[in-house]
Amino acid sequence: MKINRTYNITVLTLFPEMFPGSLGHSLAAKARENRVWDLQTVNIRDFADDNYGTVDDVPYGGGPGMILKPEVLGRAFDANIPGKDWDKIVLTPRGKPLTQNRIKKISTKKGLLIVCGRYEGLDERFVKSRSLEEISIGDYILSGGEPAAIVLIDSVVRLLSGTLKETANICEESFENSVLEYPQYTRPLHWEGMTPPEVLLSGDHAAIKKWREEKSLEDTKSRRPELIFNEKK
Ligand code: ADE
Repeated sequence: MKINRTYNITVLTLFPEMFPGSLGHSLAAKARENRVWDLQTVNIRDFADDNYGTVDDVPYGGGPGMILKPEVLGRAFDANIPGKDWDKIVLTPRGKPLTQNRIKKISTKKGLLIVCGRYEGLDERFVKSRSLEEISIGDYILSGGEPAAIVLIDSVVRLLSGTLKETANICEESFENSVLEYPQYTRPLHWEGMTPPEVLLSGDHAAIKKWREEKSLEDTKSRRPELIFNEKK
């Protein structure tokens, strides 16, 4: 397979052993073997400047938890300066929600640097000084940014040319055209007293297309009405 260029990803984390995780299997792993993309992890703790490997401290103003120190993060970032046409993202529940549209844009760049937050968060001065974009993968709290980084990387890598064989698939899946995908069926014809909708067996391609569009809309209206009314981001 001919690959034009490799999409490079650098992850700054306190837990490099959490990678590649699920990215070491299936589609993402095959694409990495084919040099569609590559991953390097950087251990933030290697940039601590005391003998204890201190990376965090208590928050100014009080409160629970520990905050990642800006000078440690700054050194880790500056030793791994991303390319000009790279996205620079910090994963945090405070960030803007990740969308399929944002993922598409990320996949058109040359590379991606991800900082994984831990503990109660990271010092805001680091986020601002290195112009990082804050992104959240959903309205729930993970114990750190690492699982979120794996979600983000997986969703980007599958859009890179050379990862998927059938690009036509991508055009019909959920969130394309702001609707959920229609339900799918396969053999056997009869299973536990249920059969697929007649129209799917008809061979009438126009009727099948119409049924799928209607079902997409119906399911989106009942499950995710906000998708229909929200502008694309
Ligand atoms: N870190 C903790 N929770 C997170 C979330 N929901 N999204 C991104 N990073 C996180």
